[in-house]
Amino acid sequence: MPSLSPWFVALLGIAALSSVFASPTRTIPRTPPPTSPFATASGGGLVINGSKFSFIGTNAYWLPYLNSDDDISKTLADMSASGITVVRTWAFNDVTEIPEAGSWLQLIANGTTTINTGPNGLQRLDKIIELAAEHNIYVLFSLTNNWNPVANEPPTPVRRHNETPLPRNFLSNDYGGMDAYVREFTETKTHDEFYTNQSVRKFFEQYLQAVISRFADNPRLLAWELANDPRCSSSLVSSPSCTTQTITQWHSDIAKFVLSIDPNHLVTSGNQGFFCPDCPKLFFNPSPPPNPVASPVPGGTRKRSTRGLMGPSKLFQMITKERRAASRASAPRNGIKIRGRWTASSEAKRQAGGIGSAFDGSFGVDSQDILSIPEIGFGSFQLFPDQNSYGTIPTQFTPPSSDFTGTVQQGTAWIQAQAASALAVGKPVALTGFGLVTQDNFPAFVPFNATFPVATSPNQKRQSTGSFGTGVTDDQRLSAYATWLQAGIQAGLSGMTQYQWSQQNLQPAAGTFVQSPNGPGTLGTSPNDGYGILGTGESGIQQTLQTASQNIT
Ligand SMILES: *[C@@H]1O[C@H](CO)[C@@H](O)[C@H](O)[C@H]1NC(C)=O
Ligand SMILES: *[C@@H]1O[C@H](CO)[C@@H](O)[C@H](O)[C@H]1NC(C)=O
Ligand SMILES: *[C@@H]1O[C@H](CO)[C@@H](O)[C@H](O)[C@H]1NC(C)=O
Ligand SMILES: *[C@@H]1O[C@H](CO)[C@@H](O)[C@H](O)[C@H]1NC(C)=O
Repeated sequence: MPSLSPWFVALLGIAALSSVFASPTRTIPRTPPPTSPFATASGGGLVINGSKFSFIGTNAYWLPYLNSDDDISKTLADMSASGITVVRTWAFNDVTEIPEAGSWLQLIANGTTTINTGPNGLQRLDKIIELAAEHNIYVLFSLTNNWNPVANEPPTPVRRHNETPLPRNFLSNDYGGMDAYVREFTETKTHDEFYTNQSVRKFFEQYLQAVISRFADNPRLLAWELANDPRCSSSLVSSPSCTTQTITQWHSDIAKFVLSIDPNHLVTSGNQGFFCPDCPKLFFNPSPPPNPVASPVPGGTRKRSTRGLMGPSKLFQMITKERRAASRASAPRNGIKIRGRWTASSEAKRQAGGIGSAFDGSFGVDSQDILSIPEIGFGSFQLFPDQNSYGTIPTQFTPPSSDFTGTVQQGTAWIQAQAASALAVGKPVALTGFGLVTQDNFPAFVPFNATFPVATSPNQKRQSTGSFGTGVTDDQRLSAYATWLQAGIQAGLSGMTQYQWSQQNLQPAAGTFVQSPNGPGTLGTSPNDGYGILGTGESGIQQTLQTASQNIT
């Protein structure tokens, strides 16, 4: 079982120290907080209407694309009843041909793009914002996706749509995204051309212009998330030249572009939160800290202050030191080695040996450098232990079902490390997606880069018995979520969004993902990719979210 590494323990110590060092007078804001109805960042927290805004949220990438507005409204009402105040969803739905039925937002084909502004196009997004306002829920729109595997595309051995029982838009990776642009507009077809190629940039910015200008004045939008899980590689491989700086520079450029259209809303990344203390930085300023005199947010009970804290430079020196010590002290374990399984193609991108893949830059993500970009308003990170390893040392990947206690501890440490990292930069941070696959859900579990459940895919059979384990029990999932929510609240996260919401009794409709389980005429359920909450555990999860929503305020 992986144990907590020393540097996490050290980080915990620092987190504790921060309240010791915070002087009592800091509970009084130095400057009056903004009373804007738009979310702003102040003193390490989010502020709306002049009050601190901390949230428990949920993910429903599919929500705008339901056929029935009543179903959307009902879903939002149920979320609200569980204490949810933020829903994160996809503000993109790219297609390569116009579907016969159902919604789509942008056609990417024949060397150009066409944006659908009709009722089954961008007006879906208008609708979700309008209905969210009725239910007092804020919307976090993500603008594109790292993941979009398509049929027969080497090296991705997948099938899709008509060849699988999963309908269009069922999976989160079936809404187009970065690779849809790369396939259409580049010759090399390497994933990172999305970040660097000027033709791709031009078309993506046209899309951003259309979407962002639509909501620039609407306070129901919490923030713009630039991309879900941006990385150097995807189902399309990375070029050898992609580094963390490639991804960071893209964030800077696009965040500036977004703010040039919409100065009202905050911009966040959407990355997984991977660290790379050893990577060269573009924005991270070791000393002095960017916001050394952050004032506490109004109404806040916790004290987040950078005063008395180690500066970012010292913090990360310490991380590096502890990490190396931990690495030296730990011998390799037996088992299937799948370290770096999500990594970019180039071995050279690993910045140093002996570090866990969430800490060595191998995904091309340096979350602290990204968070240091002036135009990035708050940090975001994710926690999916069935798909990523969050250990600081490169042991083999251990599925949550094989080491539940270790998984929970590592998740807690990950949350605390993200909070400490954001504190060092002086900005808020939110966990924008977290989830665990249960035994009941395991047959439905499709990793974000795949189109088939691991349990049934011939190509993934080997992994389903090895790296993916068997799923945890409902009780374990509940206890992990409760632990992580509590850890996030204590660490001072601004929000946590569970992945993903489930909804029953939805109207099945042609061209949508809502399938009727019992034949035509019956009612359907929302997509389950292994993280849905229907079943025996549902009420427990909803209760836990609600409890957390009461505690986070
Ligand atoms: C902020 O004020 C607006 C307008 O009164 C209201 O609709 C909204 O719910 C408020 N938001 C919060 C988080 O209080
Ligand atoms: C692309 O162009 C071809 C040739 O003009 C046309 O047949 C096809 O329908 C176009 N595809 C889309 C998706 O518009
Ligand atoms: C972008 O991709 C296109 C198509 O592959 C290529 O012609 C062009 O040179 C690329 N532009 C840059 C700046 O790499
Ligand atoms: C998804 O990622 C896993 C881990 O890297 C890999 O083993 C698997 O082949 C990938 N699946 C697809 C369909 O690309």
